[in-house]
Amino acid sequence: MARASESWSSSFGFVLAAAGSAVGLGNLWGFAYRASQGGGGAFVLLYVVIVLVVCLPVLVAEMVLGRSTSHAPLIAPITAGGRRWAPLGLLFLVAALGILAFYAVLMGWTGRTLLHALLVGLPADMAASEAFFGLISSGGGAVLGLLVSLALTGVVVAAGVRGGIERLSRWGMPALFVLLLGLLIWAAFLPGAGAGYHQFLLRWDAAKLLEPTTIRNAFTQAFFSIGTGIGAILAYAAYLNRRSGLPAEALSVVGMDTAVGLMAGCVTFPLVASFGLGDVVSGSTVGTLFIALPTGLASIGLAGRLVAVLFFGLAYIAAITSSVSLLEVPVSSLVDGLGWRRREAVWTCVALVAVLGLPPALSTGALEVMDALFGGVLLILGGLLIALLLSWQAPARFLSDLQGCGTPPALRSALLFSLRWISVPAIAVGLSVSVLDLAKMWFG
Ligand code: PFF
Repeated sequence: MARASESWSSSFGFVLAAAGSAVGLGNLWGFAYRASQGGGGAFVLLYVVIVLVVCLPVLVAEMVLGRSTSHAPLIAPITAGGRRWAPLGLLFLVAALGILAFYAVLMGWTGRTLLHALLVGLPADMAASEAFFGLISSGGGAVLGLLVSLALTGVVVAAGVRGGIERLSRWGMPALFVLLLGLLIWAAFLPGAGAGYHQFLLRWDAAKLLEPTTIRNAFTQAFFSIGTGIGAILAYAAYLNRRSGLPAEALSVVGMDTAVGLMAGCVTFPLVASFGLGDVVSGSTVGTLFIALPTGLASIGLAGRLVAVLFFGLAYIAAITSSVSLLEVPVSSLVDGLGWRRREAVWTCVALVAVLGLPPALSTGALEVMDALFGGVLLILGGLLIALLLSWQAPARFLSDLQGCGTPPALRSALLFSLRWISVPAIAVGLSVSVLDLAKMWFG
């Protein structure tokens, strides 16, 4: 088996690419979608606690798994834990392909909305907006959006780790921060901004903390947004040298991702409140953001159109730095495990995902199901297995990799302790609640 032959130009390049993977439509679309399904402040609090206490150690473990083995997601679990961990590598592949399939459909919607705002304008009212969303989320239009997004993702991944993925993240991430900051300031001066923040962050109902759907949404959002659990960060970490201080890098990734999630919420919720779109949003479906936002912005004329172009442009940049990490999971596995050439692997996987993407392109119901299964259950399961592998099966590997990059002994032990005694049990509970909640929703 060929060990990873590519590498990042520096640790900073890796951090940017990993942050690029984390920050994506999950922060913009997913956060608004899930936060508006009820839960309010309880959802946000649970989400932040899960990210910091549960996901952060798992992210470090996933990075260690990649760096210490220098192998792709399909092979790394076998190298670390032996043959019986082979199914974990397969889980990574299945989950990454499944997520990319619906993610590329969402990217297609984003791209179409962007182009429409840029070239044609915004829909004049709610009915026009719904009609436009119907157009982009079904039939040939949605399939075209899927194919274009996959092709762009393929071009970046085919250009390689340093020449493609790292180069994109180096300009994409700073651009995204600047755009988001601009929008945040603009939104803060909208007439209904205070009410928006209130609805998003401050509507507090402690009983929601125990509601299964809020718990499932918070776990799903945390794992999906950080993007840990399916080998994307593992694949990136395999191209990393021994010296990078992983705990600090994981913390930067988590910090940037959470900041962007909260900032995006502080843009979308004031918008929704200011334009009186609360009712649309509380009947939330996956399309809400694509319907509510353009309608609201249309009511303030040219400035609104400009904001729409910035917002959906920013979303598209964020999405592509994430989709490349999803594609890297199967691509690096074919290169590393089966000795394929990168280009062949890229276009074979793109073709496969194009087929898997047809159901979510043609039906938003299928997209919701794939989001809940691949982006929720399988991702959380992957996180649980990574935590188990590095804390119970191969703790020596975990500790020695961290020692090798100069992590102080107390921090090493604290991380191992939290993986074992906090992440594993908490994820097991989160996974069970999520599965039961979905079963009740679908079959109950
Ligand atoms: N974190 C990305 C987002 O928030 O949009 C989505 C994602 C990327 C999920 C990579 C999983 C992953 F492995």
